Amino acid sequence: MIQLLKPQIEGGRPLMQVLNDRKSTRDFSKEVLTIRVLSDMLWAAFGVNRPETGQRTAPSASNRQEIEIYVSTAEGLYLYDAEDHALQPVLAGDLRSKTGVQPFVGSAPVNLVYVADFSRMTDATDEDKVFYSAADTGFISQNVYLYCASEGLATVVRGLVNRPALARAMKLRSEQKIMLAQSVGYPKK
Ligand SMILES: Cc1cc2nc3c(=O)[nH]c(=O)nc-3n(C[C@H](O)[C@H](O)[C@H](O)COP(=O)(O)O)c2cc1C
Repeated sequence: MIQLLKPQIEGGRPLMQVLNDRKSTRDFSKEVLTIRVLSDMLWAAFGVNRPETGQRTAPSASNRQEIEIYVSTAEGLYLYDAEDHALQPVLAGDLRSKTGVQPFVGSAPVNLVYVADFSRMTDATDEDKVFYSAADTGFISQNVYLYCASEGLATVVRGLVNRPALARAMKLRSEQKIMLAQSVGYPKK
C-alpha cells in the first residue's frame, strides 16, 4: 500500500481564475507526478471531505459512491482507497497505453480510469445504473480538471477507450464497468 499525503486544503488558486483556465490538453511531458500532486489530485477528485460521515468531494446519486478510481502509471495499476487516502496496488506493469486509443495516452505519466461498481447499485434499474454512474463520473472528472487548472497541470478526460480490452487487462469483475479515463501530467514545454 502507498500511503498518500494529507491533502493541502489551504492550497489552490481562486475558483474563478481556475474556471477561466480549465481546458483539455493532449501534450504531456514525461515528468512524473510527485506524491504531493498525486495525493492532492486524488483527494480533490473523490476524497473524503467529511470524515464523520465518509462523504466525499464529489456528489454521488443516493451517496452510493460507486465510482472507483484506478491509477495507471509506468510502475503499475493502483486503486485509490479514499477512506485510508492510500493507493492499493492492483497489478504490476505499465498499462497506460491500454487505457485509451490515442497515441498520447501512453506518454502521460498518470492515466485515471473511472470504473463503476454496479454491485453497489443493486437497488437501481439497469438504465439508472448507467445514467447515475455516468453523471457521478462527470463530477469527479471535473474536480480533476479544476485541480489541474489550479496547479498548471495538463489533463483530458477520455471516452475513446477499448473497454473490453482494458477490462481484461485490469482483470475487472463483471459488475465493474469502465466509464471514462483521464490522462494527467505536466504540459509539454
Ligand atoms: C464524456 C467526454 C468524453 C471525451 N472523450 C475524449 C476522448 O476520448 N479523447 C479526447 O481527446 N478528448 C475527449 N474529450 C474531451 C473533449 O474533446 C473536450 O472536452 C472538448 O473538445 C472541449 O474542449 P475543452 O475541454 O478544452 O473545453 C471528452 C470529453 C467528455 C466530456
